[in-house]
Amino acid sequence: MVALSATVVLVLACTVRPMPSDGEEATAGAAVAPPREEAPAAPVRARKRPLEVYVTGSDDGYLDACGCDTDGLLGGLPRRAKLISILSGGNKKALIVSNGGLVTGTTPIDQRKFTTFVFAMMQMGYAALALTDRELALGREKLTEMGIFLGDGGALLGTNLVDVAPTPLPLPSVPLVAQLIDGESVVVASAVATSRAARYRAADGGVELADPARALQAVLASHLDSEHVIVLAQMNDAEAVALAEAIPAIDWIVLRGGEHEEFPREVPVQVGTTLIVTTGHKGKFLGTLRFGTGGELNEHRSHPIVDTLDKDEDVVLVIDSMYRDWLFIDKPIEEYYSRQPAPGGAAYVGAEEGGCASCHPRAWATWAASKHAHAWQTLVDQDLPPPPDDKRGHQRHAIWDPDCVRCHVTGFGEVSGYAGIERERSEAPLVNVSCEACHGPAGDHAERAAGGDSRWPNGPAPKVATGAAEALCVRCHDPDNSPHFELAAYWAGVIKGVQQPESIAHGREGD
Ligand code: HEC
Ligand code: HEC
Ligand code: HEC
Ligand code: HEC
Repeated sequence: MVALSATVVLVLACTVRPMPSDGEEATAGAAVAPPREEAPAAPVRARKRPLEVYVTGSDDGYLDACGCDTDGLLGGLPRRAKLISILSGGNKKALIVSNGGLVTGTTPIDQRKFTTFVFAMMQMGYAALALTDRELALGREKLTEMGIFLGDGGALLGTNLVDVAPTPLPLPSVPLVAQLIDGESVVVASAVATSRAARYRAADGGVELADPARALQAVLASHLDSEHVIVLAQMNDAEAVALAEAIPAIDWIVLRGGEHEEFPREVPVQVGTTLIVTTGHKGKFLGTLRFGTGGELNEHRSHPIVDTLDKDEDVVLVIDSMYRDWLFIDKPIEEYYSRQPAPGGAAYVGAEEGGCASCHPRAWATWAASKHAHAWQTLVDQDLPPPPDDKRGHQRHAIWDPDCVRCHVTGFGEVSGYAGIERERSEAPLVNVSCEACHGPAGDHAERAAGGDSRWPNGPAPKVATGAAEALCVRCHDPDNSPHFELAAYWAGVIKGVQQPESIAHGREGD
């Protein structure tokens, strides 16, 4: 246990770097505290265990890590559950809260993911979920239906949300959640900056925002005995600093962090005794808010949810039964086929051995031996039981999951691109990452080339040597799915420093 948390902290130290926040939550005017010295060892007045609260936020629809790499992937609810249970020493009463932003849209997939998140969070014992505009956009019916599963029968926080809707369905929110932990009382509330009023109104026309400081003061007045106050906030740094100045009794203000701040900030902003921290995005980290004893300062840590953690089997079961089976039964993926025109207006024809190989034998042979030619089989195999030594686990029904298929096929979502396995023409496979996934749709190139017109509909291929090809690759080889990607190495088939038997390099010479 001790050894493991040490590893986790170590990993954090190497991975986390403060990122420039060019999102709307820019740090303008914020008083950034200098790094604090290590807190002194805890004085003797001992709690049974350190008083820690666990906090997440901005899951952005990421239920679980995809398993695209054997190492380096962060996040996922099953490993988060495991990490919480390790850090809390299996304490079933640990206080866990979420700053919202579970999903990013309102499609049937987002709705279903939200349900799945809530059930998984119930399984983990979450006590509160802050209502953000993203949650509100899912609709009151959904929130009313799901809210009862968190906390003690209702824990959707909306401290300064004012319900002005004429509708008979009230906003299912509570102003605060209070909990006793080992005899100490902790209050959790939420706050939304009034600068976001229009966004909230767009999500739910019946919601207005009261002044967050005044709303908080009002609810805290009825909890004067509470020793600890946590505010889950939707605001930028300057607004958070102003809130901390207005209400010094707040111990923690938790923000999600600017749009591009994927990782939580390493150093909290400090205003008096209030610490302002961020969760980061995509559910890659678990934050702990540790309350100091006596004169000791509070301390914030962000633990990366690393893939060396085991997955909590109960949470895997929730995701499989609530979400992955539904992907197979309802086939929401059908909505995603053929939605956008293909680039250049040409049509995808698919990689047909007889066609392409006859004129580009080298390119074909290289491709056919590469992993790109097996990308579909990889998804199919997700329905087999995973090898016992593979800690990634399997994501069942992956071939029905748009969050997998989009990178493991050719032309997903585009007219004439991959449109479902039943519609796939056997002579022109668009499963796999085939030639046109990189080169763009070939149109009638093969036919024209046979007639002597060798022009390629999408212009010349961007070159590896100039680095221009990188833009092609990173649409799929992004940091979430291919954390070790480097263009020159991958092109030559060098993965994590090891030369693979197959490279994907092909080009002018000899084809
Ligand atoms: C954004 C694009 C993208 C998405 C989405 C994606 N993958 Fe991948 N996947 C990749 C890439 C790129 C690789 C190769 C990574 C590497 O080796 O650097 C890969 C590799 C894999 C591998 C490893 C294959 C091997 O040969 O070892 C598995 C398994 C996998 N993906 C499964 C999935 C599943 C299941 C999903 C959905 C939950 C998914 N992928 C979603 C891009 C994606
Ligand atoms: C009848 C012969 C023939 C067939 C069949 C054919 N090509 Fe070509 N292709 C050519 C010729 C000739 C060129 C132009 C010369 C070159 O760049 O190699 C070309 C160019 C290309 C290029 C563009 C290279 C650049 O300049 O960027 C790609 C990519 C390509 N072909 C892919 C394919 C694919 C995929 C298929 C199968 C669907 C296919 N070709 C079928 C003859 C053919
Ligand atoms: C349409 C999505 C997509 C694009 C575009 C793409 N890849 Fe891939 N790539 C994948 C997937 C998916 C895999 C994993 C295949 C598998 O094993 O299932 C992969 C695997 C690989 C591998 C093998 C990795 C390993 O672990 O052995 C290499 C090398 C690679 N890609 C290089 C590239 C390069 C270089 C580019 C750009 C020129 C590129 N890829 C463009 C999706 C893509
Ligand atoms: C992973 C992305 C990817 C895939 C898949 C892919 N190519 Fe390429 N291809 C490239 C890149 C990048 C180049 C430019 C190489 C360079 O810089 O020399 C290229 C170059 C070429 C060229 C030479 C064009 C030139 O001007 O040098 C041909 C022809 C070609 N590819 C055909 C194919 C065929 C046929 C297939 C399928 C059997 C295929 N490619 C699959 C990325 C890809």
